[in-house]
Amino acid sequence: MIRVCLAGATGWAGSELARGIAKSTDLTLVAAVARRHAAEVLGDILQEPRLGARVSASAAGALATPCDVFVEYTKPDTAKANVLAALEHDAHVVIGTSGLTDTDFDEIDAVARRRNLGVLACANFALTVVLLQRFAEMAARLIPQWEIIDYAHDDKPDAPSGTARELAARLEQVRAPAITVPIEETVGPREARGATLSSSQVHSIRLPGFVIGAEVIFGMPDQRLTIRHDAGGSAVPYVDGALLAIRRVGSLVGLHRGLDAVLNL
Ligand SMILES: NC(=O)c1ccc[n+]([C@@H]2O[C@H](COP(=O)([O-])OP(=O)(O)OC[C@H]3O[C@@H](n4cnc5c(N)ncnc54)[C@H](OP(=O)(O)O)[C@@H]3O)[C@@H](O)[C@H]2O)c1
Repeated sequence: MIRVCLAGATGWAGSELARGIAKSTDLTLVAAVARRHAAEVLGDILQEPRLGARVSASAAGALATPCDVFVEYTKPDTAKANVLAALEHDAHVVIGTSGLTDTDFDEIDAVARRRNLGVLACANFALTVVLLQRFAEMAARLIPQWEIIDYAHDDKPDAPSGTARELAARLEQVRAPAITVPIEETVGPREARGATLSSSQVHSIRLPGFVIGAEVIFGMPDQRLTIRHDAGGSAVPYVDGALLAIRRVGSLVGLHRGLDAVLNL
């Protein structure tokens, strides 16, 4: 049995994952974090009698119960502190929360390596995103110019999305994209060319009518390749990937980004 502590267990993504853990025979949810339902039994809130853990208001409180894997699924402003607290309590960590920066990841990586623990950060657990990332890396080896667009609902606070950040970071490992007119030589507002993130230009759309999507466009003279992922309104696409991450993170040391770190693609 892998003992799991789930931070954000009452949220849109976390509650679906909690139900997924309840159905698993090899995972047990021993602790949960959320402020508004603190001290209540998670199963009463989610109407899932197999979830007997009591909700704590903070990660520090929940980590008083020993766990093997801590899952971070709250908000960008608390994520890093929660992850560091979990590592200090000798738990491996799965990060689903978006909005952490490359500097945050460097700090987390250093602590995880020092403590010989694994951290798996997946900005997006959906299989179609894992494939988008992999196909984009293949394309970047052959096509030197690309830009990234991320689409999300109007009230998503962080931009660019974790999915776009992760994609840009991965493509930079292949190479930095070429650019014909340098951004600083843009005639007009530079913002029109998006943000430069891990060498890629990234454009974030925040509008009602979108849920979550990511697109990378590769351009060559007289030809273009677009690779795009779109998710619907439920959190179902993220459950299987997160369960896999929980099961496999214990085999890692240090921080790894992307679900394919534990997949045989
Ligand atoms: N990796 C992926 O595949 C994936 C998929 C979906 C979402 N996400 C990301 O996951 C994160 C959560 O998304 P969501 O849509 O599930 O958000 P949400 O519905 O707002 O849920 C957030 C959860 O975290 C808890 N929380 C928030 N702030 C907290 C704090 N300071 N201390 C303790 N608990 C806190 C909330 O409960 P209280 O408010 O009661 O504290 C709630 O349980 C976001 O960063 C989102 O972008 C990632």
